[in-house]
Amino acid sequence: MSRIFYDKDATLDSVRLKKIGIIGYGNQGRSQALNMRDSGLENISIGSVKDASMDQAEADGFTTGTIEDVSADSDILFLLIPDEVMPKVYEQRILPGLEAGNVLNFASGYNITFKKIVPPETVDVIMVAPRMIGEGVRELFVNKKGYPAFVGVEQDASGKALEIALGLAKAMGATMKAAMEVSMYQETVMDLFAEQATWPIISNVLIEAFEYQVKMGLPKEAVLTELYLSKEPAYMFEKMADIGFFKQLPLHSRTSQYGQLSRFQRVDRKFIRDMMDKTVAEIDGGIFAEEWEKEQTNGMTKFKRLKEEAFQHPINEVEDKLRDQS
Ligand code: NAI
Repeated sequence: MSRIFYDKDATLDSVRLKKIGIIGYGNQGRSQALNMRDSGLENISIGSVKDASMDQAEADGFTTGTIEDVSADSDILFLLIPDEVMPKVYEQRILPGLEAGNVLNFASGYNITFKKIVPPETVDVIMVAPRMIGEGVRELFVNKKGYPAFVGVEQDASGKALEIALGLAKAMGATMKAAMEVSMYQETVMDLFAEQATWPIISNVLIEAFEYQVKMGLPKEAVLTELYLSKEPAYMFEKMADIGFFKQLPLHSRTSQYGQLSRFQRVDRKFIRDMMDKTVAEIDGGIFAEEWEKEQTNGMTKFKRLKEEAFQHPINEVEDKLRDQS
């Protein structure tokens, strides 16, 4: 079982006097920086390219600078730019200013796991990876609820890397809920597994259910409303998290409960397991990482085509129609 840390297990002592550089002020960068400032960390600077995110950082009252300057001037660096641009930015603009004793903090294990970034042995390499979109990171901090995060130490040059990771997790509001110790490899596998196996399987079930029922002659709008537009499933997911996956069943009618439980047994999970085996082999062998990198150098043509195909599926038209009418 992984260790789970809460507010009482962490202090800000190891990070309070450090110069913190946030590289990238987007979804995560803005929320994490605002939370840490509200927690009392005063030495935070934002390093970014000149775009709307830089204007936002200035409007929020942060000191800003180029990625090179902020990197060279900081003790703890947060790498909060998109994972696919991170290796090049790290190599060209961050590494030259990196000094022994610095700390590199990631919100995702991807680039370290697949060795797209290989930091020098003299720096700490840690991860504080919120299990929450950026907006939620801020909102749940402001509402004093917190959100879970995975924390990990990949390289402990200072001997204090875990203390630092926990201090940052506390300052950004994660230990308010739960900071779970997970290696960067484990975080990467869980993240990609969800994206490449769990959700594609669930999406296929929903799309098949739509197409099947429409073929049966049922009204498209009603089918989609039953499937997810009502937000009933979103509400169920919330109850699963709050009460329990099965324990929320009593909130449904007894007919529904019996139907769900008796037919749950009927699904042959062999296909699901086979798909999961294939996904894990592709993640572990670096096959997916290589495919994704190739896709980027090829101008993302397949990615664009896949998105176009998805946006042309008949459900889009039904969704738009219902939205326009409401
Ligand atoms: P984002 O897409 O919101 O990042 C935007 C920022 O990156 C902006 O400041 C922009 O100026 C900068 N940027 C974009 N391209 C750049 C380039 N070529 N050179 C320099 N700067 C560039 O990023 P997001 O979504 O906040 O992700 C940051 C990290 O957080 C990633 O490692 C991601 O995996 C992780 N993460 C993201 C979550 C999310 O919900 N978005 C959840 C948990 C982790």
